Amino acid sequence: MAGIQPLRLFIAEMTKLAELGLDEAALLERARPLMSQLLSKDDWLPRAFAEPDGHSYRQYLLHCDPLERFSLVSFAWGPGQATPIHDHTVWGILGVLRGSEISQRYVAADGDVHECGSNEILEAGAIDMVSPSIGDIHKVWNGSKSRISVSVHLYGGNIGAIRRHSFEAGGGVKTFQSGYTSSVIPNVWQSAT
Ligand code: FE2
Repeated sequence: MAGIQPLRLFIAEMTKLAELGLDEAALLERARPLMSQLLSKDDWLPRAFAEPDGHSYRQYLLHCDPLERFSLVSFAWGPGQATPIHDHTVWGILGVLRGSEISQRYVAADGDVHECGSNEILEAGAIDMVSPSIGDIHKVWNGSKSRISVSVHLYGGNIGAIRRHSFEAGGGVKTFQSGYTSSVIPNVWQSAT
């Protein structure tokens, strides 16, 4: 098959980066080019990890660092599908692999969440970043009402197991753990480097 190698390389490079113990800003600065490289080709993500669902977006675990310093997830968006307004509590580097994703940022104040700026359209190859220190609350949705989009999100922890929050306009807050859509991950060891 063409290409699981870019994913394997990304995991190896991110593992080396995590070993350096950098502060968040330095880590994001060095991880972003790795994400750009991963997004530069669209032939490495196995089809099973890009399959949408008719009811809701799917989030497939591609890799979780054994020490839970980072995880990589593919999001498969059916037409028009959207997340709730939510936070992450860890840093995230959000890249669009296929199609487009739209992001609206929010800030929490006075017991409610408020839109922060206008929404941003991210086309394939584009990257957005979140964290509690640079802005952590957003809502994300498929940029297309008729086509599937796929994005790849890197987080500073085992994102599926982290207790975080979703918000409703008007002041409702819920704690949630997203989990992962699938219990299987891609086999990155099936061919030599
Ligand atoms: Fe998010």
